[in-house]
Amino acid sequence: MSQRRTLIAGNWKMNGQKADGLALAKGVAEKLAGAKPNCDLLVCPPTTLVGLVAEAVKGSGLHVGGQDCHAKVSGAHTGDSSAAALADLGCTYVIVGHSERRTDHAESDAVVKAKAEAAIAAGLVAIVCIGETLAQRDAGQTIEVNRSQLVGSLPAGATAANTVIAYEPVWAIGTGRVATPAQAQEVHAAIRAELVKALGAEAAGAMRILYGGSMKPDNAKELLALPDVDGGLIGGASLKVADFWAIAESC
Ligand code: G3P
Repeated sequence: MSQRRTLIAGNWKMNGQKADGLALAKGVAEKLAGAKPNCDLLVCPPTTLVGLVAEAVKGSGLHVGGQDCHAKVSGAHTGDSSAAALADLGCTYVIVGHSERRTDHAESDAVVKAKAEAAIAAGLVAIVCIGETLAQRDAGQTIEVNRSQLVGSLPAGATAANTVIAYEPVWAIGTGRVATPAQAQEVHAAIRAELVKALGAEAAGAMRILYGGSMKPDNAKELLALPDVDGGLIGGASLKVADFWAIAESC
C-alpha cells in the first residue's frame, strides 16, 4: 500500500465572490463533518476570498490554499501577495507555476522555483505545477518537457512534507479531454523517476504527485487508482460541492 496520503485539491481559479465562495467552502466543510474521506481535502479560492474562507472553515479539517505567491517576503510588488501573508490568513498550501500563470504572466521555471522556495520558507506546502502543451505531446516531447520543467521548478530543500507536484497536461485543462490512465501513469512514473534522481528514493517515494486536467466524478476513480497518481488538482469540478465531494469519495 502506498505510504502517500491522497490529496484532493480544488483550484477555484478566478471564480467566486463572497456569497458563493463561502457557500462552496462551507458546503465542503459540512460534508467533511459528516464523513471522513480517505484523503486530505484542500480548496484554493481566489486571493480575495482566502481570508474569509479560511475563517469560515477553521477547525473543520478542510485545508485552504492560495493560487500563487510572490517570491519575495514583502516590498514594492503591486498586486502580488507574499506566501507569509497567505499563511497569516490561514493557508497551509499554495499552488505555484500553474500553466495559466506560466502563460498569462510569462512565469519561467526559475520564477516558479523561487516562488516554491518562498512558500516553503513561509511554512506552506508548495504545489508545483508542470505539464506539456498539445503541440509538445504531438511532437513526442511529453516526457522531456515535464522532466525539464520539474528539474527547473523543484525548490531547493524539497521534501515530501513541503512539496507536492501537480502534473497538468495543458491540453486537458478545462477542455473535458482528460488524459487516459495510461497517459497519466506514464508521465507520473517518469516524474517519480526524476524525483528519485533529484531527492533520493525515500523522499521521491513519499512525495505526492497530483493529476490535474478535466478530472470529474466519472473519471476520478480510475485515475486515482493508478500507482503513481496521489490525488487530483481540480478546476471546474471543484466549483460544485457535490462534484468535489464525489471525487473525494473516489479515493
Ligand atoms: O488547476 C486545476 C486545473 O487547471 C484543471 O482544471 O477545470 O480541467 O479541472 P479543470
